[in-house]
Amino acid sequence: MGSTGSSAIREKLFCEAFDRIDVGILILDQLNRNVYFRNRHACKILDFLKASYEYDELSLMMMGELEQIKNRGVTSSDQAMVNCDHRSFSYRIHKVEDSQQYLVVILQDVTDQSRLEAIDEASEMMNNISYVFSGIRHEIGNPLNSMKMALTVLKNNLAKFSKEEISVYMQRMFDDVAKMEALLKSFKNFNMFEKPNTVCVDLVSFFESLTLLLGSDVRKKKISISMDILPEAKWVLVDTRALQHVAMNILANAIDALTGIDRPTLKIRGESVGDTVFLSIIDNGCGMSADLVQNAFKPFYTTKPHGTGLGLVISKKMLGQMNCSINLQSEEGGGTTITLGMPKGHPGERGEKEALAAYHQ
Ligand SMILES: Nc1ncnc2c1ncn2[C@@H]1O[C@H](COP(=O)(O)OP(=O)(O)OP(=O)(O)O)[C@@H](O)[C@H]1O
Ligand SMILES: [Mg+2]
Repeated sequence: MGSTGSSAIREKLFCEAFDRIDVGILILDQLNRNVYFRNRHACKILDFLKASYEYDELSLMMMGELEQIKNRGVTSSDQAMVNCDHRSFSYRIHKVEDSQQYLVVILQDVTDQSRLEAIDEASEMMNNISYVFSGIRHEIGNPLNSMKMALTVLKNNLAKFSKEEISVYMQRMFDDVAKMEALLKSFKNFNMFEKPNTVCVDLVSFFESLTLLLGSDVRKKKISISMDILPEAKWVLVDTRALQHVAMNILANAIDALTGIDRPTLKIRGESVGDTVFLSIIDNGCGMSADLVQNAFKPFYTTKPHGTGLGLVISKKMLGQMNCSINLQSEEGGGTTITLGMPKGHPGERGEKEALAAYHQ
């Protein structure tokens, strides 16, 4: 038997094997505009979707993914989803190596997977909500109880207490009210800058102005601040006010961590890799234990008597909305480095002036 015979047998074997698997396979012939091959499972899915077996209609359905695959360097399209009668199907188009003619489409029934993912997502959300609720209960419950106790003591001793004693209890209650106000303010911050207005910002001027605002704490603790932002890392695309909020919290955390430290220093460094600017804020403060590093981004996790534990959570959310990242490296007793990854900007790009004007508002 010649090689034609053996290749025919091979093709028959492959077709048989493909017909037995529960993944849909379509091979599209772009030159002759026809469906060169479809296995049994692909037909089953197309029937369910009431979709055509014709090349032209299929390519119309998969237009977006076919457009993607035309790009040089792209070997597979993104996974696309089709929902029909409570079932979900995914498909992805793959280029066949060395062939301009054929494309392979893999179709899958992902109903169960989607359902499990939805259940997972819902239960994860419920866990998060109950975690946040218990945090709020705790954060509001504590000052509230403390105020209740102070009020009871005052009520029972109003006639007996001196003016000074009364004022001590009053002050305690004001402190508790301030705690609750700080918490409410943080909640407001959480929803701020939902739609960031990203503009091109000069990091050098930004941090020069920001460090001036740090004021008395830096002077009292004799913190030496240095800045080294490389020219290629000078411009970033961010929302100025959101970045101001984030940087202020990181700097405030660093200043807190520098309490009682010998030769306290704060370094601001900027460098760029590809299209990303990495800005690090480095302190030689108390540092964080491994446990603290793990929990620092959890809501209400704080080691400070007057902290809300929301500073980093809110910063991370704001950064995410601006396509920026945050990374934390810290060692107990060895200082902390917080690094922000930000999209690089180009001077003269939209909003350089707007950014500065907004910043100085
Ligand atoms: N630079 C740092 N050095 C040491 N510990 C830090 C540093 N930054 C953050 N932390 C730790 O991470 C915790 C969480 O920080 P986060 O900013 O989220 O809240 P907070 O500072 O405690 O409260 P708030 O920001 O509301 O004042 C802090 O309580 C602190 O223990
Ligand atoms: Mg903080």
